[in-house]
Amino acid sequence: MPDDVLVKGGRVVDASGERVADVLVRDGVVIEVEAQLEPASPAARVLDAAGCVVAPGLVDLHAHLREPGDEDAETIVTGARAAALGGFTAVVAMPNTTPPLDDPAVVASVLAIGRASACDVVASGCITKGRRGEELAPMHELHQLGVRIFTDDGDCVADADVMRRALEYARSLPGAVVAQHAEDPALAQGGSMHEGAWSSRLGIQGRPAAAEAIIVARDIQLAELTGGRVHFLHLSAAPSVELVRAAKRRGLPVTAESMPHHFTLTDAECASFDPVFKVHPPLRTADDVAAIKAGLADGTIDAIATDHAPHVPQAKEQPFEQAPPGMLGLETTLALTLTELVEPGVLSLADALARLSWSPAGIAGLADHGGPIASGRPANLCVIDPALQWEVDRARLASRSRNTPYHGRKLTGRVRHTILRGEPVVVDGVAQR
Ligand code: DOR
Repeated sequence: MPDDVLVKGGRVVDASGERVADVLVRDGVVIEVEAQLEPASPAARVLDAAGCVVAPGLVDLHAHLREPGDEDAETIVTGARAAALGGFTAVVAMPNTTPPLDDPAVVASVLAIGRASACDVVASGCITKGRRGEELAPMHELHQLGVRIFTDDGDCVADADVMRRALEYARSLPGAVVAQHAEDPALAQGGSMHEGAWSSRLGIQGRPAAAEAIIVARDIQLAELTGGRVHFLHLSAAPSVELVRAAKRRGLPVTAESMPHHFTLTDAECASFDPVFKVHPPLRTADDVAAIKAGLADGTIDAIATDHAPHVPQAKEQPFEQAPPGMLGLETTLALTLTELVEPGVLSLADALARLSWSPAGIAGLADHGGPIASGRPANLCVIDPALQWEVDRARLASRSRNTPYHGRKLTGRVRHTILRGEPVVVDGVAQR
């Protein structure tokens, strides 16, 4: 029988509030949450949490783990390790792999590899076969394997009738949500950055904010028409935030996520012509950044996700227009949230953890993640040192890829330990698997 784990001296923060308490874990489950607990046996593993926040493990609704098909950029095991180091105990793996996750056998293999990794790997499934946007994927079979999030991420489901049928079908699948990459391809195609003053100045073709807002507006209508749940991936533009806010006010089944790059970086970064700043949807203006922050603050945006999108160096060394979009996120998202949102007072620590843990766990239907930290609950936890200062060094990331836009950036707050089903998978900032 594995030994007990005692997380000692921390401040426990979950959806029910906060208290100073130790957390005793046995056989994968939280046994006791009390002040001044002592290990029941000398063999117990004591994890020091002095000065730290003990939170439910973080849940990432959006990570590209690249397996199968692009294992040079990332594998499920390396991505899950990066996730654990970032405080995540569950990640939703995006289905734009090769082959894509539109087939039960491929999904089953991703789940099997995920089981031996440092984080719970939750497979999403394609909305349409081959992510071609035409014919629905076998959503029922994928749902039977546990898939709850259906998405063609990387591509928008552009055909309104296909999206309507996906939402109607999803209604019959308990817990299913249709997650849209909201960028109208007719407007965005050929564009490599946000369309605006910077794209004109740099002579790079743009992707207008309207490409996102048009699909968000349309899919809100479709959610209303069908009653199906729609989730907007990587919201980036001010008009989209306003549309989601209004839809929520009307009680429609709509949720949304945003990424750290959309609340920390602007299109001005593209002036470097460095493809590390190329991402879809693109980095936008300071006004958009402000709107994303406001949306996170008032709960319009339910979740902060990573959009971890590893690419091999050769791919990102191409000229800006030819390079693939995407940037790393798993190891920096928590610290960027603490540094850019919690420190300046945009979000309280509890609200930040809500956006990173229990709210995304609820969207994905992950009952074992997101807390509360209480006796009898699965021990999926992260222990965060909120004061630790560090500098992002792309050479030291656990990801197989190096395409972080934050190289050299000083951040505050880092994961000390991560516990997955009772097992310490990160101890003192070091991956154990
Ligand atoms: O920038 C992006 N990269 N956006 C996406 O939607 C897909 C992702 C990828 O797979 O690289």
